[in-house]
Amino acid sequence: MKHYQHNIMSFEEKLYHDQIAYWSSQELDKKFWNSTKLTARSKWLVEELKKIEFQSLYEVGMGCGRNLFYINSSFPNVEIGGNDINLNMLSFAKNILPDSCLIECVDAIDINTEHKFDVILTHGLLMHLPSKYANIVVNNCLDKTSKYVIHLEKEGPEYFYKGPKELDPAIVSSELTWAPDIEAMYKIRKDCNIVTSRDIEIENGGMVKLVVIEKKIFV
Ligand SMILES: C[S@@+](CC[C@H](N)C(=O)[O-])C[C@H]1O[C@@H](n2cnc3c(N)ncnc32)[C@H](O)[C@@H]1O
Repeated sequence: MKHYQHNIMSFEEKLYHDQIAYWSSQELDKKFWNSTKLTARSKWLVEELKKIEFQSLYEVGMGCGRNLFYINSSFPNVEIGGNDINLNMLSFAKNILPDSCLIECVDAIDINTEHKFDVILTHGLLMHLPSKYANIVVNNCLDKTSKYVIHLEKEGPEYFYKGPKELDPAIVSSELTWAPDIEAMYKIRKDCNIVTSRDIEIENGGMVKLVVIEKKIFV
């Protein structure tokens, strides 16, 4: 019995592996670069960033690099970096971002948290991870930041935000998105303050949940 317990993947693990398989195989560079809605969000984000002091920014799940492109255009002296698991998106990003941009092909649950950046950003990432994994990524974001974590995500108390009515392990989970309770994940950490957590409507960019976390500095 013990032997089987070690080898059987939990339902949540299976969903996670399905998500990885889905996201790493899609050719989505143009879709995410050309989207009017997503571009409006990137431009909105740039305006928000003008309100804070930062010298470096890293986007977890950077996709084709659209956010980093607009950030770099407005803050050319800010060190930028990001990761993703989709090589097609990352090679697109390499062409539009400066050579100095650190681009890492690594799973968000495995990012190097020793290499700190002032701001850690996620946009539309946590909603694609089952909550156990979203929780790991949230903790990684806080460990990797020296100042702020900014999430632009879907959030809510409900577990499955959208998906097939009948949850069956055989169903390809790319059809699913989640709405993790991001605030709750931060509340159990003692080294941060929740600056804001609210729904916002971005002109031409739709509704999104904005969560801003400030890292506490202990001296
Ligand atoms: C909805 S897209 C958002 C991309 C980008 N943040 C943007 O604003 O355009 C989700 C991205 O998360 C990436 N992703 C999904 N699971 C991931 C994981 N476990 N680790 C790193 N990236 C992941 C996908 O490959 C995809 O690029």
